[in-house]
Amino acid sequence: MWRATRKKFPPGPNDGLKRWSLGPLNDNPLKYFTRLARDYGDVAGIRVLNFGTIFINHPDTIEEVLVTNARKYTKGRVLRANRHVFGEGLLTSEGEFWLRQRRLAQPAFHRARIASYAATMVEYTQRMLEGWQEGEELDAHQEMMRLTLQIVGKTLFDADVERDAQDVGKSLEMLLEIGANFRRTIFVPHWIPTPTNLRMKREVAQIEKILYRIIAERRASGRDAGDLLSMLLAAQDEDGTRMTDKQLRDETITLFLAGHETTASTLSWAWWLLAQNPAVEAKLHAEMDTVLAGRAPTLDDLPNLSYTAHVITEVLRLYPAAWGLARLVVEPHEVAGYPVTKGMGVAMAQWVVHRDPRWYDEPEKFQPERWEGDLLRRLPRFAYFPFGGGPRQCIGNTFALMEAALVLATIAQKFRLRLVAHHRVVPLASITLRPRHGVRVTLERRHQINARDSSIGAQSAVAD
Ligand code: HEM
Repeated sequence: MWRATRKKFPPGPNDGLKRWSLGPLNDNPLKYFTRLARDYGDVAGIRVLNFGTIFINHPDTIEEVLVTNARKYTKGRVLRANRHVFGEGLLTSEGEFWLRQRRLAQPAFHRARIASYAATMVEYTQRMLEGWQEGEELDAHQEMMRLTLQIVGKTLFDADVERDAQDVGKSLEMLLEIGANFRRTIFVPHWIPTPTNLRMKREVAQIEKILYRIIAERRASGRDAGDLLSMLLAAQDEDGTRMTDKQLRDETITLFLAGHETTASTLSWAWWLLAQNPAVEAKLHAEMDTVLAGRAPTLDDLPNLSYTAHVITEVLRLYPAAWGLARLVVEPHEVAGYPVTKGMGVAMAQWVVHRDPRWYDEPEKFQPERWEGDLLRRLPRFAYFPFGGGPRQCIGNTFALMEAALVLATIAQKFRLRLVAHHRVVPLASITLRPRHGVRVTLERRHQINARDSSIGAQSAVAD
């Protein structure tokens, strides 16, 4: 029984009629949630139509929702509304079915298994660099998207998706662009034949065609490639039934989507931040020169590439590819002292928590050095959670961090990416956080700047 004095719903913006339009939340969710935290602190109530959602901002409350009370929730409305894309894949399924699939997929993400992917990650990056020319202008985000798609295809499904990468990339981009409109996603059921829904259907069909081909080829060959696809194909229920093509499609589309766009965006933000922070870039280059001295990185180099790792940690703090998480309550309980009932939403935003001055000095600054000490150990567990937490924590976190470090190191060894003047890089908070119009850069081969780098280094050493 709630005490009579207990407030039923947290204070929040009184949007009146606006709540029916979802206006500011839909137009710029990053700004909306930042303001919400500024105006209402650690807990705020928002009403969207008749759905009550509690927005939480304190790491301890986030831990209660994602870990302690994880069983009292399902995934939030936006992800659930995207089930026609992801089906019953790992990201969107629930309960016993999810647990079974998670157990099945887990071995493909064990550290030892992931280690075997390192060479592929570097090889594909080098292949991409063979096509890069001095002085060429390109969209770093497109390049990262294509690269990470190929890497996920090769490592998890032993499929060379190079020939399909362009088509799949475009389709995925379109889906994410459409997905950025939460109002549409939640309120326009996917089966209504609106022009946008029909477009989505076409893009999903385009991706499915490729996935079903990969599945059929593997079934036909009967080959055990020892990869995730083989594991999923071999998996049996107690009664001996195996996964249908539809189930396999759901898992593969989920892993393609969850496993490439997030890492690609992280790398794109990294190039953008590095290009604007020459001191950080110079330090990264110095690490490349000392540790790698011109050769391609390997898995064994990673422990020595600590600054590279800090750069990635810091990119994921400021531009977390998963910028926010949402849950739906299935079992009544309390969140931060407020009663929550079935059907209510709980939302949290890495974008906001990761920029909270209570946890980070000069939070808006890109400062990889902040991770050099014991900051991570001193922080509350959920003051930094780019990969979520609890049972639904990202299955691909080790994969992603390794991939980001190896790709970043392979490229930074050879090239400097300079921002093209007057090209505005704007974050788009879709299901993931990505640069809306890409990151346009001009390529500069690094051997040309090595000499200049070392002279700058020498000057500052003298000045010191
Ligand atoms: C920088 C890169 C990445 C980021 C920031 C990221 C972030 C996240 C987050 C926050 C979640 C939890 C979602 C929630 O709780 O609602 C998640 C789940 C998931 N991620 Fe990642 N991810 C990344 C890379 C990857 C990669 C490389 C893969 C696979 C190759 C992957 C596969 C998945 C899957 C399958 C889930 C659902 C897990 C489950 O519910 O059992 N992710 N990711």
